[in-house]
Amino acid sequence: MNLIKSLTREQLSFRLFISLLVYTGAAASVSRAQTTNPVPTLQIKADQVTTKVSPMLYGLMTEEINFSYEGGLYGELIRNRTFKANPTNAVYWSAVNGSISLDTNQPLNSALNVSLKLDTSGASQTRQVGIANDGYWGIPIRPNTTYHVSFYAKAKHFSGALTVNLFHIASTNEQIIKSQDFEAHLEGMMFPAASATIPKISGDWQKYEVTLTTGNVEPSKNNRLVISATKPGTFFNHHGTVWFQQVSLFPPTFNNRPNGNRPDIMQLLADMNPKFLRLPGGNYLEGDYINERFNWKETIGDISQRPGHRSPWNYWSTDGFGLMEYCEWCEDLHMEPLLAVFAGYALKHDYIKPGPDLEPYVQDALDEIEYITGDAATTKWGAQRAKDGHPAPFPLHYVEVGNEDWFDRSGSYEGRFAQFFNAIKAKYPQLQVIATTPVKSVTPDFVDEHYYRSQEQMESQSHMYDTRKREGPKVFVGEWATRVGRPTPNMAGALGDAAWMCCMERNSDLVLLESYAPLFVNVSDLGRGGSMQWPSDLIGYDALTSYGSPSYYAQKMFSTHHGDNVLATDSQDIPTYTWQPPVRTRNGVPQGDRPAPRQVPEIFYDATRDSQSGTIYLKVVNRQGTAQPVHIQISGGASVEPEGEALVLKADNPDDTNSIQEPVKIVPVTEKIDGLGTDFTREFPPYSITILELKAK
Ligand code: AHR
Repeated sequence: MNLIKSLTREQLSFRLFISLLVYTGAAASVSRAQTTNPVPTLQIKADQVTTKVSPMLYGLMTEEINFSYEGGLYGELIRNRTFKANPTNAVYWSAVNGSISLDTNQPLNSALNVSLKLDTSGASQTRQVGIANDGYWGIPIRPNTTYHVSFYAKAKHFSGALTVNLFHIASTNEQIIKSQDFEAHLEGMMFPAASATIPKISGDWQKYEVTLTTGNVEPSKNNRLVISATKPGTFFNHHGTVWFQQVSLFPPTFNNRPNGNRPDIMQLLADMNPKFLRLPGGNYLEGDYINERFNWKETIGDISQRPGHRSPWNYWSTDGFGLMEYCEWCEDLHMEPLLAVFAGYALKHDYIKPGPDLEPYVQDALDEIEYITGDAATTKWGAQRAKDGHPAPFPLHYVEVGNEDWFDRSGSYEGRFAQFFNAIKAKYPQLQVIATTPVKSVTPDFVDEHYYRSQEQMESQSHMYDTRKREGPKVFVGEWATRVGRPTPNMAGALGDAAWMCCMERNSDLVLLESYAPLFVNVSDLGRGGSMQWPSDLIGYDALTSYGSPSYYAQKMFSTHHGDNVLATDSQDIPTYTWQPPVRTRNGVPQGDRPAPRQVPEIFYDATRDSQSGTIYLKVVNRQGTAQPVHIQISGGASVEPEGEALVLKADNPDDTNSIQEPVKIVPVTEKIDGLGTDFTREFPPYSITILELKAK
């Protein structure tokens, strides 16, 4: 019996509104079916192509959350480099001996309108006075590496030199490091790893730049940047002052881009071969309030002219990572931007009425598209992009209007979307326009659906697109994740993800684009107010190293092994378990009765083929704790060589995971296999995701 046909339409098809509902914390009940299990059979019809695999299917979704850019991908190592993270305190900065304070009377410019004031009066040859920064939970240093330091400074009654030092803090004593009087213990614990001198500081704002090169040091993150003086002031006045702004420290970056990205994280992404990047959010696009949106025009050009803004994830963005940096990130990884434009709605429910009030925002979106794609010689914003260092336009095919506008209970999205849609289509008819929730007055090219689910929910909806009607907009699954495991998903998460990816890939005539979210998490401080706002996240890192979660490896397996055709498949005797979903709630209020128990498959699959080489990729997910033999039959006249390859991601336990300490505990392993053909039985390991590469002609 075909499993898909045996389930009711209701069981198979979760409608979009379910994504608005949050399940109660009560554990859903799960039990195994009491049956003697026959060996399941999978049939692959090698001559029946059901659809093309969408060449754009596998992408990335990103935003500033969990210290994704600042404290993550963005190379900058100094935290709060513009002193705007807190209006009253120079947070993440400390004084070395002297005293420091914020000063709004000495702005660098109207964007960076506060500075850090250092009183140098206590300095002497034997007593350094300065400012220090410990980065984002540490500053990484590596051997024989050159770092680029830059800052703006001006001085009054100060004629001495400034020394720029990278100090290694040689203590592993966490108690001392975290204690109140850490600074007092520092003397004698700090060893210079690299240093440079700036002989004189001008009385007017000027930019200073030096390089620091380490010797044969051990890689470490217990380091700090110190900029200090050993003279108190001038000969006539010992009360010297130095003001600082935009103090920056950059390590080598991916492709050596100035203001660029961290190489290890870029490499993890490059290995996934993503086709697009949904940017800049997520909630980060919208902001809590309209004046805290991602206002792209304030994120371009010289970084010293970017005012920065507070993000809805409750920390400051300098916007050093702005629209151009997103586009260059895409360029470096050979993917294209999928641009989400601000659509006049902010998270705390402020919205702009459709009509004339919305027009400036629509114009902003058109300008943004022009900045990315416009001709440098003939368009205003294309010329601005060239002035900002990138004469060539970037490719762009998809524009999303807003984010999760189902939260806008005012009903304004219908009108807001139509206004953006009509304006974008009028000027850029070639662009595909994506709505964030269904609309009626115009027909979007795509609707973006979001699914954050438990493993059981993901598995339970793993056939939902098989029966979805094909007319109407295409589907972009722009945010989804099996949220099991923190900070990053464990093997149970990866199994739920793989079940869901089989569904999306099998239906990629309908689901043309997908992106897991969130992408990144800094795992340094998982406590409240720390480095993580949202578990579970695909890739984790601290200041020094990074790792992919089991879900990352599942994504990478799927996105790098799919060919171009989806093949028809069928199955019999797929084992199932009984799962009763918990009561749905909205804003904590239960919505109706608990849904009836349902049968959920324990094996998931899909088959694709490379039309050039003939290779068949059979993906099989076994979510059970026991090995599962599966009888595989390939019809349609294909001949299959006895030797092939199996790429297997598996764990002994569904809770097993990767971490900073054990970054590669669970990784896919490729093995040569034989005994293949058009009719064979293969055992799939417990808790495993397998891709069989069958050499077929
Ligand atoms: O991915 C985390 C958040 O989830 C996104 O910012 C938002 O779009 C969604 O609610």
